[in-house]
Amino acid sequence: MYRLVYVSTARDAVSSQNLQDILESAIRNNSDAEVTGTLLYNGPNFLQVLEGPEAAVREIYDRICSDARHSHVVTVLEERQTRRHFDDTPMQLLAVKSEAGQLPKGLSMSDELDLYLPTGLPAHLRQILKSFNTRKT
Ligand SMILES: Cc1cc2nc3c(=O)[nH]c(=O)nc-3n(C[C@H](O)[C@H](O)[C@H](O)COP(=O)(O)O)c2cc1C
Repeated sequence: MYRLVYVSTARDAVSSQNLQDILESAIRNNSDAEVTGTLLYNGPNFLQVLEGPEAAVREIYDRICSDARHSHVVTVLEERQTRRHFDDTPMQLLAVKSEAGQLPKGLSMSDELDLYLPTGLPAHLRQILKSFNTRKT
């Protein structure tokens, strides 16, 4: 099992519809490829965790890297592990509050990201995800 985490910067004015489109293709493609994960969006930035067979994750990541809906894609973590931690859905979207920017209208926000993260998540991974959720109120 291979895990890859990246951060990127959303193109200006990403709408709820853009996010919905991204999520729909992620769910469709990731299901076929046995890839799972989570996608966090905090206004200006995305952070995504992709887990699954290494070749499948790399193929999906290559496509994601050349997607014009975001830029400045930076790999944060790559690791080989014995088990997945995000195994419930092919991709979940979590909108998180941060000091860094505003979320599109109509998007519900996760105030306390911890509530939405799987139990048993390794500390280093939990910390990376939580660093995205810098505003609690
Ligand atoms: C932030 C972000 C995350 C994405 N995550 C995924 C993903 O997990 N899986 C996926 O197949 N495509 C993802 N995409 C979309 C791909 O870049 C690409 O548009 C899509 O895979 C094309 O497949 P389709 O023609 O079947 O829609 C993401 C795009 C963005 C901007």
